[in-house]
Amino acid sequence: MDIVIIILCAYLLGSIPSALWIGMLFYKTDVREHGSGNLGATNTFRVLGKTAGLVVTVLDILKGTAAVLLPLIPALSNTGIHPLFIGFCAVIGHIFPVFAKFKGGKAVATSGGVLLGYNWPIFIIVLLTFLIALKLTKMVSLSSMIVAVVGFLYSIAYYIWTGDFYLMIIVGLMGVFIFYRHRANISRIKAGTEPKVKWL
Ligand code: G3P
Repeated sequence: MDIVIIILCAYLLGSIPSALWIGMLFYKTDVREHGSGNLGATNTFRVLGKTAGLVVTVLDILKGTAAVLLPLIPALSNTGIHPLFIGFCAVIGHIFPVFAKFKGGKAVATSGGVLLGYNWPIFIIVLLTFLIALKLTKMVSLSSMIVAVVGFLYSIAYYIWTGDFYLMIIVGLMGVFIFYRHRANISRIKAGTEPKVKWL
């Protein structure tokens, strides 16, 4: 029973549609009707500006982090499920949120949050990789996919170094979902119509 509860809690955490709720609550704007239509931090930056974008980024990251840390709650500490799997349930919640008709974001920030909760030095390395990619490409979507690939390569190296098999598997799975959710972006990148960030 505890297993079902912890998986459900992680999924519900991930399901919190920060971009939708912040937009509706403070800006009376449904970000799904503007920009890329995505319920994520990038589209929130695009539609509602830097403050809202930053808030949504932090909240979406924290959803993944909080899920990984759920086993710290004494009542949920003996499920035997690997924390990364619990974090992954939050990523699934973020992509298919029960609170937003199962149409959510693209998994990037919440996946980052999973890494932050599990192994913060790896999170920092992945974040720096993302920022370098963003500086070079000026496209959040492309940088997200680059970091999905490079992050998987890091996790393979980390597996060889430490034997952490689960990290490699979950980072690989998160990468697959990141690519799956960026299908429209890939088409736009190919067509040369993907928007670039102006402030870099
Ligand atoms: O994290 C999502 C980002 O990579 C792309 O978002 O709104 O440009 O499709 P968007």
